[in-house]
Amino acid sequence: MGVESSCDETGIGFVRDGVLLGESLASSIDEHVRFGGVVPEIAARAHVQAMVPTMRTALDDAGLAWHEVGAVAVTAGPGLATALHVGVAAAKAAALALGVPLYGVHHLAGHAAADTLVHGPLPERSIVLIVSGGHTSLLAVDDLVRTPIRHLSDTLDDAAGEAFDKVARLLGLPYPGGPSIDRCAREGDPTAIRFTRPLMGQRDPALGFSFSGLKSAVARYVAAPRDPGVSVADIAASFQECVADTVVTKALRACRAEGVDTLVIVGGVAANSRIRAMAEERCSAAGVELRIPPMRLCTDNGAMIAAIGDLLVREGARPSSSSIGARSSVPLELARIGE
Ligand code: KG4
Ligand code: ZN
Repeated sequence: MGVESSCDETGIGFVRDGVLLGESLASSIDEHVRFGGVVPEIAARAHVQAMVPTMRTALDDAGLAWHEVGAVAVTAGPGLATALHVGVAAAKAAALALGVPLYGVHHLAGHAAADTLVHGPLPERSIVLIVSGGHTSLLAVDDLVRTPIRHLSDTLDDAAGEAFDKVARLLGLPYPGGPSIDRCAREGDPTAIRFTRPLMGQRDPALGFSFSGLKSAVARYVAAPRDPGVSVADIAASFQECVADTVVTKALRACRAEGVDTLVIVGGVAANSRIRAMAEERCSAAGVELRIPPMRLCTDNGAMIAAIGDLLVREGARPSSSSIGARSSVPLELARIGE
């Protein structure tokens, strides 16, 4: 059983031998819309209310009974501390009551593992681009649960999803900004404004990411539009094009630099239609195999945490101690967290 509660989604999933048996997801997103972002205390209270019912519906969906659950994995970090605590407490209670091992896992390793549920085990070496609300990283991954993960780059400031959310706000589009911009951009012209691609100069770090300057560039454009004929949809499409171009270019550079021919794109922003299309086009031209999970597995869910738990169980990994706590910021080195 995988338990996810790092942000505003309460997710429970069941995975056995790499196969997703069933899952359930409850979201408190509607309660955050009027604040324009996730309010941690509201998210935590919603997790408390949703946790047990979501476990029940996921069990039903998987056609499982409690006594058939062999191990519990839970997102121990990173994420909102109050929200993480709810999942960790619930997972500990379940593991203790069932007498099964508990595994604290890293949320971002979960995002990467989501892909294995649809495309099978990762190859010996892959480049993983994580683009989520809190992270934008390029990772060199060998074995997801056995070998330490190498960070080729992490964003210097805002994450890609954060940029989508902030720009949506600037454009008056509803939270969460990613899906709003994606939808709005369909009516716009992606070539209307050529926003400067961040960190793409000769002297910039070849794999580096930075999105706060792009957000400011959009803010400046909105404050003083140069062309009155440019619509909100045009700005959304031009911004989205800039992010897609940047992340796909850098991800392919990482593949070349590392001599790796598989690119995996995961995290909430991997649901973006333009990023998916552009990555497909350019990977196919570069002879790189592209793996992106279906949209519902890109955003936070319990199945991805169960997927990592299942890999750890099959690997014979040592369970985490029952004193494991929530770690709101923890770097991704190993999929398993805690002593
Ligand atoms: O991975 P995720 O569900 O949560 C974190 O772990 O952060 O990612 C959430 C982020 C949000 O910033 C949201 O705006 C973005 O993913 N997102 C998208 C799309 N769907 C979700 N960004 C761009 N296009 C989308 N279609
Ligand atoms: Zn996430």
